[in-house]
Amino acid sequence: MTRCRICSGDVQKFLDLGEQPLSDAFRPADEIASFTYHLQMGRCLTCGAVQQLAEVPREQMFHADYPYFSSGSSRMREHFRRTAEHLMAEYCGHDGAVVVEIGCNDGVMLEHVARAGLAHLGFEPSASVAEVARSRGVRVTTEFFDADSARAHLGSLGAADVVYAANTMCHLPYLDSVLAGVEEILAPQGVLVFEDPYLGDVIAKTSFDQIYDEHFYLFSAQSVSGLACQHGFELVDVERLPVHGGEVRYTLARAGARPVRPAVRAMLDAEAASGLGDPATYVAFAARVTAVRDDLLATLTRLRDEGREVVGYGATAKSATVLNLAGIGPDLIDRVYDSTPAKQGRLTPGSGIPVVAADDFASTTADVAVLFAWNHAEEIKTNEAAFEQGGGQWLEYVPEVRLVGGR
Ligand code: SAH
Ligand code: TMP
Ligand code: ZN
Repeated sequence: MTRCRICSGDVQKFLDLGEQPLSDAFRPADEIASFTYHLQMGRCLTCGAVQQLAEVPREQMFHADYPYFSSGSSRMREHFRRTAEHLMAEYCGHDGAVVVEIGCNDGVMLEHVARAGLAHLGFEPSASVAEVARSRGVRVTTEFFDADSARAHLGSLGAADVVYAANTMCHLPYLDSVLAGVEEILAPQGVLVFEDPYLGDVIAKTSFDQIYDEHFYLFSAQSVSGLACQHGFELVDVERLPVHGGEVRYTLARAGARPVRPAVRAMLDAEAASGLGDPATYVAFAARVTAVRDDLLATLTRLRDEGREVVGYGATAKSATVLNLAGIGPDLIDRVYDSTPAKQGRLTPGSGIPVVAADDFASTTADVAVLFAWNHAEEIKTNEAAFEQGGGQWLEYVPEVRLVGGR
């Protein structure tokens, strides 16, 4: 059995998503990315942490060509603006407050902290996005955050009041080193706040596409509580967030430094009651994943046989899991629309579907668009309302395969 990356307990495998490429390896047509790995998920029988069975070296995923820019969604820009306001109001009311972000990407959150004049530092190893953050006035280092890099900045930074990470902690298999780094730089009353896709939502929605190379863990209150304990921290607050298909924001403090909010106990109890600790839950989940995969492939095959033109919307990292698991390529989906310039003119990883500019969707001839960026459904359907008005249909696959709107 594989050993848990958090507590060394036995990890029980429950899901096999097959050979997968790097989810963000969008390449030009003449440059084929050959790297693949076997994507499998398991659950630790000791601490409950849901995690991958194998690890992709971090430099292969996060580098100068990394194509995910957080500011690509207006709803997420608003979410991070509010987050910055919240963190500053809650934890930075005193002179000399310091904010550190792990995975600050293009500065979508930290730019507000920088603008408020607070001392801050973003750790962002992907130079493509770090450069954009810098152009927005954010102080960034292109190092991976871990115990070594954190220690190296201790002298110049001062103790951090907040260490924040969004959609990044779950990317870091080496959490022992990360928490050791946080322990070094955090002020006595400081907090570690992080938000990631929630295991409970993934199980409830069968959103297996949240599992790909970068998403090493699917956290829950149970596993984060155990992780905190191991490193002298305590889970003091949890909050469910509606973004990215359902996330939880966890707040950790040094053990005993802050009161534990009742929401923590409530979430732990709800997780136990909903069967998140029960192996049968994961067996049933895996069966639903297979059903969605088969249904999606059958639906796309039928649409092609009926002569309908099918495209995709959102060249998401998530879509790599779906496309490669089901063996869907350009024969079933002609092209994928996406607003990210760094992805346009390239092919989806493994599946080889051309990515085209989202601006061109306004004049699309497509009958059906597969909504790969389903977590941004509201924003996209509002912006692209003309598609449905013209008779176009969205094909969704979370929580189940269904055609929406149109004729
Ligand atoms: N916080 C942003 C970005 C999430 S994408 C958002 O929520 O939208 C994850 C980011 O983490 C990427 O930009 C990646 O380059 C970065 N990253 C990966 N490993 C890291 C590490 N060890 N330290 C800091 N950033 C890291
Ligand atoms: P995400 O689900 O990981 O945030 O990725 C969303 C992808 O979808 C990203 O490549 C940007 C793209 N996108 C659009 O093309 N149009 C949009 O309106 C939104 C919100 C995202
Ligand atoms: Zn464990």
